Amino acid sequence: MTDLTDQPDLVIRHGTVITATAIFPADVAVTGEQIVAIGHDLRGRREIDATGQYVIPGAIDGHVHLGMPIGRFTSTDDFFHGTRAAAFGGTTAVVDFVETGPEETMREALAARQAVAADTVIDYGLHMTIGPTDIAKLDQLAEARAAGCGSVKLYMAYGLRLTDGDLLLALQRAADAGAQPVVHAENWDVITTLIARNLAAGRTTPHWHPRSRPAELEGEATGRVIDIAAYVGAPVHIFHVSCAATVERIATAKARGLPVTGETCPQYLTLTDEVYDRPGVAGALPVCSPPLRPAADRDALWRALSSGALDLVTTDHCPFTAAEKATGLGNFSQIPGGVPSIESRLALVYAGLVGDGAPDPAALSRWVDVCCTTPARVFGFGRKGQLLPGYDADIVLFDPTRNFTITPDSLHETAGWTPYDGLPLRGWPTTTISRGEV
Ligand code: URP
Ligand code: ZN
Ligand code: ZN
Repeated sequence: MTDLTDQPDLVIRHGTVITATAIFPADVAVTGEQIVAIGHDLRGRREIDATGQYVIPGAIDGHVHLGMPIGRFTSTDDFFHGTRAAAFGGTTAVVDFVETGPEETMREALAARQAVAADTVIDYGLHMTIGPTDIAKLDQLAEARAAGCGSVKLYMAYGLRLTDGDLLLALQRAADAGAQPVVHAENWDVITTLIARNLAAGRTTPHWHPRSRPAELEGEATGRVIDIAAYVGAPVHIFHVSCAATVERIATAKARGLPVTGETCPQYLTLTDEVYDRPGVAGALPVCSPPLRPAADRDALWRALSSGALDLVTTDHCPFTAAEKATGLGNFSQIPGGVPSIESRLALVYAGLVGDGAPDPAALSRWVDVCCTTPARVFGFGRKGQLLPGYDADIVLFDPTRNFTITPDSLHETAGWTPYDGLPLRGWPTTTISRGEV
């Protein structure tokens, strides 16, 4: 009789391993929560046949809003439902947010958010949001960092926006604490002026949403925060890049050797601003900020992702129901902002970067890099994002031949709608392993 006691708990056999730098046939062995071997003819107490499938590191989504109160509403997917949907889509770690109340310490706010997040089914991290009332608390950042918040979120828009001076202080203290700053970059003064002008002229429909948040000024805000970060010697990661103007600022910063990274999201890669002209609530559903842009921007984002001008893809998953979106139909600026994408990101990026037909090895590796490996590095997951012995056993099997049509019913997200409704894809994840758990 074979002695099974020395064998790994699990072996994924006969798959094609794809990493950010290489593609090769191999078996992957897991014991407990870790990868223990990559090799050939490995045997385990449990085995999964991955013949014909890609075996990749679990994807990491560094920008999600789960069960997050925004204005009058709370985003529909809580930690349980959001991370379950993420797992079905091949994501094994997400990063959400902590906001500290005026009377709270960062440690207290972090503990409260961790309690809300306890329902997660995969690993998660939290960005520490620094709003105007947190500037007086910047000396708490080191403690928050030590307690597990490896990044700080800075807004240049909405009620939590910081002045340029406060941005400087926050960036400097984040750098001192060794925390990664992540920034929502838009020009809020211009936006509020344009919204007021459009509403006063009776221009109230979602059509006017992108026309109140100009791409050039998203680029301007991005350049401004990059310059401030460079002045104080801080790295900076630019959230949800929607347009060529912002890509250009990031590319210029990289050419200067600055530690600047940028992400975009499936909605900007897949949709264009024409969706805001759909009648009724259909035009309100895809309202998010920054807004969707014309096709030329969308195409520039794909090029930037391929070339390395952009580093990674997150979702900014922040869903609201159609009824909640409809509350802003008479005033586009009151539509709760955000769209669901948490489950379809890996497959949508695969479709855009790799596509159908004979796969280009460089494109396959780039797909893994922007969805898994670089997010792990930027968002501080030291033992994730790669398939290596000693790393967390976060592993995804992806079937490049599986046909999948995205509909609200084919997903596990709870908003009741998806911006990609009816989109046929070839290539979808079939198995997700989170720290050794299938
Ligand atoms: O409209 C959006 N993107 N809502 C989520 C919050 C944010 O700005 O990231
Ligand atoms: Zn944002
Ligand atoms: Zn966001």
